[in-house]
Amino acid sequence: MTEAKIIDGKAIADATIEKVAKAAAAFKEQSGAVPGLATVLVGENPASAVYVRNKGRVAERVGFHSIQKTLPADVSEAKLVALIEQLNDDSLVNGILVQLPLPDHVNESKIIELIKPEKDVDGFHPINVGRLGAGQLDQALIPCTPAGSVILAKSALGENLSGLNVLIIGRSNIVGKPAAQLFLAEHCTVTIAHSRTKDMETLAKSADILVAAVGRPLMVQGNWIKPGATVIDVGINRVPAPEKGEGKTKLVGDVDFEAAKTVAGAITPVPGGVGPMTIALLMHNTLVAACRQNGVAVPASAT
Ligand code: GUN
Repeated sequence: MTEAKIIDGKAIADATIEKVAKAAAAFKEQSGAVPGLATVLVGENPASAVYVRNKGRVAERVGFHSIQKTLPADVSEAKLVALIEQLNDDSLVNGILVQLPLPDHVNESKIIELIKPEKDVDGFHPINVGRLGAGQLDQALIPCTPAGSVILAKSALGENLSGLNVLIIGRSNIVGKPAAQLFLAEHCTVTIAHSRTKDMETLAKSADILVAAVGRPLMVQGNWIKPGATVIDVGINRVPAPEKGEGKTKLVGDVDFEAAKTVAGAITPVPGGVGPMTIALLMHNTLVAACRQNGVAVPASAT
């Protein structure tokens, strides 16, 4: 039995980060400015705290100016609004990332819509969502996880994805919907499946690329996969791992990796697949934002 190629997201992310670092140096030379990224964390969700810390660490590694703001979980919406307005007006800040989810008492879409679209490095502002939907990719800021998923699919299949059948499982604003737009822009035939979809298995069996972004451990079974397909597993689920000792946990994706790798042509692991790409693309977006805000062309070495 042949085994799928394991797509090394960590290595591809590291290469992307190196390119961004080189391009950032060229940008500094040309403009005299330093790209700046501000991350905002509200509350103490441990997973969110880890993500935000990693984003700050990588921003420093690529030579960006990095600001991290942490607010208590019970912060008033007004205080968060004031912080976003301050970061919008700060010329040293080119990118603003508000880690989601926000506490229930805060209106998430109000906060996202407050971020200046040109500083919205998550690509969640309706202006950027609209530009992506209209196919204006060169003017939009593109959500990081979907952009990373396309790069990983291309690492297995080559640059030309034209005509391939893509099944995206999950319809979130952060991953599923923007991923569908990006694969459509690559001339793929895109289907979005979700919790109400009838017979997901049959749809999966005709997918050349399957993107799983649901947040349900091991939901996609090995026998759903079309032989030779490329599987991009966006899920990051923490589950009990008694085999590692009492009370221990581990991370698994949305796909039954062990079963799927005996059928797929290529597959991303969890961890070490899509996760590292998200941060790499965030750095890319911050550089692009800084270039646009300074009227400088994005250095060719960035892509
Ligand atoms: N929470 C989960 N994924 C993301 C992301 O890509 N960006 C932000 N800001 N929050 C998230």
